[in-house]
Amino acid sequence: MPSVEAVRRLEAVTDTALARLSLEELLSELLLRVRSILGADTAAVLLLNGGELVPRVAKGLEEEVEAGVRIPLGRGFAGRVAAERRPIFIDDVDHADVMNPILRQKGIRSLLGVPILFEGKVIGVLHVGTLKRRLFDRHDAQLLQIVADRIGLGIEYARLYREAQETSRLKDEFLATVSHELRTPLTPILAWVSQLRRRTLDPARTARALEVIDRSARAQARLVDDLLEVSRMIGGKFHLDVRPMRLASAIEAAIEAMRPAASARNIRVETRLDPRIDLIQGDPDRLQQVMWNLLSNAIKFTPEGGRVDVVLERVDSHFELTVRDTGKGIRSEFLPYLFERFRQADASVTRALGGLGLGLAIARHLVELHGGTIEAESAGEGK
Ligand SMILES: Nc1ncnc2c1ncn2[C@@H]1O[C@H](COP(=O)(O)OP(=O)(O)O)[C@@H](O)[C@H]1O
Ligand SMILES: [Mg+2]
Repeated sequence: MPSVEAVRRLEAVTDTALARLSLEELLSELLLRVRSILGADTAAVLLLNGGELVPRVAKGLEEEVEAGVRIPLGRGFAGRVAAERRPIFIDDVDHADVMNPILRQKGIRSLLGVPILFEGKVIGVLHVGTLKRRLFDRHDAQLLQIVADRIGLGIEYARLYREAQETSRLKDEFLATVSHELRTPLTPILAWVSQLRRRTLDPARTARALEVIDRSARAQARLVDDLLEVSRMIGGKFHLDVRPMRLASAIEAAIEAMRPAASARNIRVETRLDPRIDLIQGDPDRLQQVMWNLLSNAIKFTPEGGRVDVVLERVDSHFELTVRDTGKGIRSEFLPYLFERFRQADASVTRALGGLGLGLAIARHLVELHGGTIEAESAGEGK
């Protein structure tokens, strides 16, 4: 039985270790220590990944990690520890349900495994083994559980740290994009204002100047509106004005608004709207905005002479709106992030084309407020 002193030493080590070691190093360190304190021959950590336990770090059992063993939840020794969320003792591997062939190959006789939990959820399994037959007891299990709890914390810290870094990187990138996007419309505004000041423009040029200033200021206002809208959405202060409406009208209005942009680049917009879809309950302005966001992307990311199809059809008890373009496509690694705010597949490309990376995040939020879902498909970049 390990002494109280041994447990305390272990806790002290893990406390300081959490702060300065990488996750891999921490796991290694903990496994070596727990193996020696418990006088075991092997120690291993398996982590849950998509319903299967995958060996992550092992001592005296390195083959397990290298072999890429996968253990389904509920099956074999480790699978049962995770599914039943309790310590499992195996006195003799030869007479037990052990799935992993490597445990037998290594000649392991006795095993003790405990679940690794974080916030009440199983995230993995920690086990130790001996080559000679040994009856692990309750105290061994308690000690192993202390280590497993530390491992749970370590894994969670590591994950939070990675996420925080990624968020901070996205924010930096976003700040650069916002500055650039807000600056862009200012250039023509300032240039034309200084021309107007000189009072040398003829009426036609004056009209043209005012038109450019107006268009640029509106473009900038829309950017600011998007930014304000996203912060309202984050704050949960965002409400729909739901009433009976014609979906087709909202779609057509958005298409009309985008028509000049489409024809300027010689892009054909084809529509097929099922006439049987009549009145629905929704917020017409917001649904038009969703359509506008999808369509503006389709046009933005499609080269000259391309084509955009807009289809509205009934599927079972709901309806489906599809916007498809013949443009550059989306690489599969980016698809999962498409609807996240600040996300753009390629900052340099979108820098040239404009946009804050908020359109699809707003679209998803609006669709979900209406009780719908939104998804994207692409055969990949360049397809
Ligand atoms: N139709 C599309 N074709 C290719 N890529 C797209 C399309 N729609 C969106 N994307 C990608 O998703 C990103 C996010 O879109 P969005 O949220 O509307 O932001 P923005 O248009 O401001 O860049 C775009 O920057 C682009 O990389
Ligand atoms: Mg967009």
